[in-house]
Amino acid sequence: MRNLGSCSCSMRIVLLSCTYVLICCITVHVEGFDSLLQLPQSGLPITRIRSKRVLHLGDFGGKGDGIHNDTGAFKHAWDIACSFPLRTQIVIPFGYTFLIYPTDISGPCKSKVTLRVSGTIVAPKDPDAWNGLNPRKWLYFHGVNHLTMEGGGKINGMGQKWWARSCKINATNPCRRAPTAITFHRCKNLKVDNLMLVNSQKMHIAFTNCVRLKVSRLKVIAPAASPNTDGIHISSSRGVEVKDSIVRTGDDCISIVGNSSQIKIRNFACGPGHGISIGSLGKSNSTSCVHDVMVDQVFLSNTDNGVRIKTWQGGSGNVTKIQFQNVLMENVSNPVIIDQYYCDSPLPCVNQTTAVKVENISFVHIKGTSATEDAIRFACSDSLPCEGLYLEDIQLASSSSTVAKSFCWEAHGSSLGPMYPPPCFCNDSIIKLNVLSDATLQSL
Ligand SMILES: *[C@@H]1O[C@H](CO)[C@@H](O)[C@H](O)[C@H]1NC(C)=O
Ligand SMILES: *[C@@H]1O[C@H](CO)[C@@H](O)[C@H](O)[C@H]1NC(C)=O
Ligand SMILES: *[C@@H]1O[C@H](CO)[C@@H](O)[C@H](O)[C@H]1NC(C)=O
Ligand SMILES: *[C@@H]1O[C@H](CO)[C@@H](O)[C@H](O)[C@H]1NC(C)=O
Ligand SMILES: *[C@@H]1O[C@H](CO)[C@@H](O)[C@H](O)[C@H]1NC(C)=O
Ligand SMILES: *[C@@H]1O[C@H](CO)[C@@H](O)[C@H](O)[C@H]1NC(C)=O
Ligand SMILES: *[C@@H]1O[C@H](CO)[C@@H](O)[C@H](O)[C@H]1NC(C)=O
Ligand SMILES: *[C@@H]1O[C@H](CO)[C@@H](O)[C@H](O)[C@H]1NC(C)=O
Ligand SMILES: *[C@@H]1O[C@H](CO)[C@@H](O)[C@H](O)[C@H]1NC(C)=O
Repeated sequence: MRNLGSCSCSMRIVLLSCTYVLICCITVHVEGFDSLLQLPQSGLPITRIRSKRVLHLGDFGGKGDGIHNDTGAFKHAWDIACSFPLRTQIVIPFGYTFLIYPTDISGPCKSKVTLRVSGTIVAPKDPDAWNGLNPRKWLYFHGVNHLTMEGGGKINGMGQKWWARSCKINATNPCRRAPTAITFHRCKNLKVDNLMLVNSQKMHIAFTNCVRLKVSRLKVIAPAASPNTDGIHISSSRGVEVKDSIVRTGDDCISIVGNSSQIKIRNFACGPGHGISIGSLGKSNSTSCVHDVMVDQVFLSNTDNGVRIKTWQGGSGNVTKIQFQNVLMENVSNPVIIDQYYCDSPLPCVNQTTAVKVENISFVHIKGTSATEDAIRFACSDSLPCEGLYLEDIQLASSSSTVAKSFCWEAHGSSLGPMYPPPCFCNDSIIKLNVLSDATLQSL
């Protein structure tokens, strides 16, 4: 702290000096010091020479008032951090709001970069800000490796105007594209920790063609009625861990599509929203293979679906080695569902002979209440029936007074342990089936 001595000063300068110390002493652990980080006052000349290892958006002309365009400051800080040969941190300080227009942020970088978002990043609220730009992107990271994004701050997509003009909200609107708030494309070794994402224009955070991702302590919030505001979208990515996170939005809490594998989701809360989905897969006769997915310790509350696999007819590829376990449902519509007749187009989908094969899917220790009569629904393909479905210890009661049921179509599998509603596999090779009564369930 010897730098403090060189300043004779007012309170504000002392605080700036603290910032200075933090910035110079890179090894100082800055956790808990966020409130001391100060932006230089506008007009204050930056005379101090800072180590390049912590870059403060304010030093690049960022105003942080939520009104001025801070895109240039952000890009400039990124370019410097990304080309610096030592681990560098970019700080979005607590108490400030940076307005960032649609931006491409590219790598690879010379060394590891940390984007420390302790304050807020907001999008322009007017969709017209995207005129002439790609309507699918807001913060678009591509080719970035070893990026850590953290800091306890907030990223706000300001999606209200986008939602109002969505064709899902008002059918007289034309169907237009809308941005995913944060996209990571072709990225490796990412860490996203302790952030809040709110009101994205469309999806909140998407990982496409990425490998080795760790997402933790993420909070994603948007109104239940906001259209297509998926929480976490994983596409053609491998080696993904999502844990200790909460998603409450208007669409899937997590969706896994493309050719994705080795995905682990643990300690996750979802709802309102559309649940945890693998798919949709196979749209427009496309091929997808999704395998090795483990979903463990999940709480779903008032969601439109629980754990779901959805495929379009006409697709190809397969969904295999998926396990959903330790799931607690509260008034969930379609708690357990495989739908191989998924159709989300304005035109009806005609029956086709090809399908994405669904094989070796386990549902273990799934409990709670169903808002629909079919607590378990397996609507499998006529041409490629589901095989190797496995149910163990399922206790799903109806949240209304009706009796919970299972629905099976071309579904082959087996079950073990307490089972309510009773399963309905075409050829259930029952290992040890113990069908519970409604009365037993009520008492659980
Ligand atoms: C905001 O700043 C960026 C970078 O300087 C610039 O490309 C963009 O056109 C600006 N947008 C508006 C609306 O001023
Ligand atoms: C849908 O949009 C049309 C045309 O903009 C408008 O007249 C109508 O009131 C809207 N309907 C609803 C339910 O908002
Ligand atoms: C998945 O991989 C297959 C084979 O490499 C490829 O043909 C297909 O287009 C991929 N699907 C997607 C959705 O990326
Ligand atoms: C998918 O394949 C079917 C059968 O070959 C064909 O009728 C249909 O037009 C194809 N759909 C698309 C979107 O290519
Ligand atoms: C099915 O998935 C497995 C991985 O579980 C993969 O090795 C295999 O190639 C896939 N088969 C087809 C027909 O896509
Ligand atoms: C349960 O879910 C249904 C369907 O979403 C909803 O209508 C109902 O109000 C919910 N009940 C409770 C107690 O939340
Ligand atoms: C498509 O297949 C399903 C399941 O076999 C059947 O219930 C439905 O009637 C078929 N639809 C048409 C249009 O043939
Ligand atoms: C599904 O499981 C069975 C039995 O364990 C195994 O023989 C088969 O290879 C598995 N299929 C896939 C695609 O993993
Ligand atoms: C149904 O299950 C029995 C006993 O597990 C088995 O012997 C038989 O081959 C199965 N039939 C079909 C069509 O899978």
